[in-house]
Amino acid sequence: MFEGCFVQRVEDLRTESAFEMLAKAKKLESAGREIIHLEIGEPDFKTPAHIVEAGVKALRDGYTRYTQVTGMPDLKEAVVSYTSTYKNINTNADEVVIVPGGKPIIFYTILALVNEGDEVICPNPSFPIYENVIRYAGGIPVFLEIKEEKDFRVDIEDLKKKISSKTKLLVLNSPANPTGGVLTQQDILQIAGLIKGKGIFVLSDEIYGRICYGTKPVSIATVPEMKDYTVILDGFSKTYSMTGWRLGYGIMNKAIAEKISSLMVNSVSCTAGFVQMAGKAALEGSQDDVDRMVEKFEKRRDMLVSGLNSINGIKCAVPQGAFYVFPNIKELGIKSDKFADYLLEKASVAALSGTAFGCYGEGYIRLSYANSMDNLEKALERISKAVQAL
Ligand SMILES: Cc1ncc(COP(=O)(O)O)c(C=O)c1O
Repeated sequence: MFEGCFVQRVEDLRTESAFEMLAKAKKLESAGREIIHLEIGEPDFKTPAHIVEAGVKALRDGYTRYTQVTGMPDLKEAVVSYTSTYKNINTNADEVVIVPGGKPIIFYTILALVNEGDEVICPNPSFPIYENVIRYAGGIPVFLEIKEEKDFRVDIEDLKKKISSKTKLLVLNSPANPTGGVLTQQDILQIAGLIKGKGIFVLSDEIYGRICYGTKPVSIATVPEMKDYTVILDGFSKTYSMTGWRLGYGIMNKAIAEKISSLMVNSVSCTAGFVQMAGKAALEGSQDDVDRMVEKFEKRRDMLVSGLNSINGIKCAVPQGAFYVFPNIKELGIKSDKFADYLLEKASVAALSGTAFGCYGEGYIRLSYANSMDNLEKALERISKAVQAL
């Protein structure tokens, strides 16, 4: 219906396959199949009780009206102090923009900075929203292959070759979705060395910043002269199991913040006040739940990686952050998307094809270990059987 009525850019706008796979899996479930969900990127833990309480109290206290467009001063101050503690970056409230989720920072930053024909260097495989929005804005995605043999970090020599006079923005994501790769301090310094002074901005997606198992990730905004050119994306969805609350923020130069404020006022007006109050409680309250969650993730990761490596034809590197494994399935001799469909059909395990994150994801699948140890063990048994039956 309405053929030819829609704007071409909207017609062309792609989706996030995780939600498509979730829909397929749900359909099978409603037909009576018992599916193990390893496709969607959301912690399986409850939002910590003190955060829920703060949200409920805020509703009762009347935080039910519009707030300041870029966020409530109290939450912004909490972000400023959190950023100093966890990222070692000094900022101020004028540089903080509170938004409904992490995703809007991707959307708004690209809309504010990328003109028709501008090149944006984007890791591949990576979170598909980057490429989708770059194309939507009329920008040209220039893919930076993220390779297993480089520990799923950035290949600096490759990056050097991708930079051109048209490069406007570089997207970084560390710890990374879907690979779990974490950039080292040395990587960050080398990347900054390549782009500094060239007017290239960075969208530094740090949403998994607290979910890491070895060396702590470093923000490129800590490198002298890089802060003004960096938009940091962070949020509450992953760290505090708050995916459904829709709360995130960006940290950026005041001039960029003003443009994002203009996009906010013209789209969503502001972020829900009681949700912001819950976010303040998350940042200022006890971090024990976060630490416990990361400890659990690490145990699951270790179990899943060793289980996958014991299956003939699958090789799985140990991810350093986030809650995904990105096993190599090249030896199985089946395309990644076919294998993901096969796992759903044959093993009732919902997983994502590596190509859901870009062309260089061929040969891999992504499994989320935001699921119970029991379910992960069951999934491993099922995957192993399905692989034997290939
Ligand atoms: C790398 C990355 N950035 C941003 C987001 C968006 O997070 P939110 O759900 O808060 O919008 C996600 C969610 O999966 C993600 O994986």
